[in-house]
Amino acid sequence: MDRIRIVGGNALNGIIPISGAKNAALPLMIASLLTSDTLTLENVPHLADVELLLRILGNHGVDVSVNGRREHQDGSYARTIHFTCRTVADTTAPYELVSKMRASFWVIGPLLAREGQARVSLPGGCAIGTRPVDLFIEGLAALGAEMEIDGGYINAKAPKGGLIGARYTFPKVSVGATHVMLMAASLARGTTVIGNAAREPEVVDLANCLIAMGARISGAGTSTITIEGVPSLSGARHRVLPDRIETGTYAMAVAMTGGDVTLSGTDIGLLDTAVEAIRRAGAEVSAVEGGIRVIGHGDQIRPVDIVTEPFPGFPTDLQAQFMGLMTRANGVSHVTETIFENRFMHVQELARLGAKITLSGQTARIEGVTRLRGAPVMATDLRASVSLVIGGLAAEGETMVSRVYHLDRGFERLEEKLTRCGAIIERISG
Ligand code: UD1
Repeated sequence: MDRIRIVGGNALNGIIPISGAKNAALPLMIASLLTSDTLTLENVPHLADVELLLRILGNHGVDVSVNGRREHQDGSYARTIHFTCRTVADTTAPYELVSKMRASFWVIGPLLAREGQARVSLPGGCAIGTRPVDLFIEGLAALGAEMEIDGGYINAKAPKGGLIGARYTFPKVSVGATHVMLMAASLARGTTVIGNAAREPEVVDLANCLIAMGARISGAGTSTITIEGVPSLSGARHRVLPDRIETGTYAMAVAMTGGDVTLSGTDIGLLDTAVEAIRRAGAEVSAVEGGIRVIGHGDQIRPVDIVTEPFPGFPTDLQAQFMGLMTRANGVSHVTETIFENRFMHVQELARLGAKITLSGQTARIEGVTRLRGAPVMATDLRASVSLVIGGLAAEGETMVSRVYHLDRGFERLEEKLTRCGAIIERISG
């Protein structure tokens, strides 16, 4: 199994190109199941989760053709993928595939809308809480689908003539369930109004792509989304939006190590709340032509309390990284997690680097220390693992991160991007 070796202490200086967002690319790829025409996606990141979804879509009959990757001057890659699902080959998404990545469960929406039926395994994914699927079941049932759980699978069946538009208000905000409702309602008969919808930029990106495919959607980005169903969707060309989690992660790394880095190909407007928190911690963050500039001052990190919330609140996917930053603050800070009940696995690993963190329910109390020391640590989930990398970059001496396959799910060419900015970081294979 690969490991990542880091020798900490170097400031980061240079340019880091930000990739397309994993969390936008996945639902956009799944949207290709809604049409028999070709959907072309630009700026698709090269990540383990994307590769796995390509396999899963292949199983459902999607033909995939990937344009060669072209490297630009700033080290970024352009990757364009064409998806064509002339006919759906299989409406079953098997356990072997769905258990590896929770988002693959979302195929239930387009399969049900286009084929009138779907049999999809209950999901797996990161071990960060129970992550049930009740909202998907309720939402699709509101569109008239018969939903039944049988042997670890959900069997979904649309009424004769297809799904029927309806009013449905989610009892809790869910990004995935909002994606699925958007896709399913786009091909339903009549109008659907989704209340308490997720407002994440990735939901807006999916809605924009569906609109380009001929869907009639308004209100994406607000809590109420209205969808007027259409009989069929066509192909389109769409560019995946930049990864705000990758952006925030590198911004926090610079805030922690010190240095001056331009994050290119991204947009400060995607992460206002996180930028605000990083600024309060003492780093300078500003919008520049084509990206964001971050200037960190290393030792003068101020303590900042954060609470994770659905967008536009502080993203849960940046919680572990921000906690990493706070381990070196001049004082005590608190990090409260409200989205997932078990998302503090990084705490004990950060403690191995010398961090002082105590947990009480959903809140971590972090007492900043003047220095961290490198140590062997283990990645436990995708975002937790990158907080250990950030910690290692700021720690004295060597940090060895094991189980880096978690990182490969969500961070494209991480070692390369950081090395270009002066970090000592390498992958050790085997
Ligand atoms: C997506 C993101 C993930 C991010 C999360 C929250 C992708 C691929 N993943 O995950 O990186 O951390 O949003 O921003 O985009 N819930 C239920 N019942 C359901 C569905 C969800 O109770 O049927 C709960 C979950 O357990 C969780 C909360 O709702 O407590 C939010 O989860 P959700 O927004 O659905 O997360 P994902 O879409 O899986």
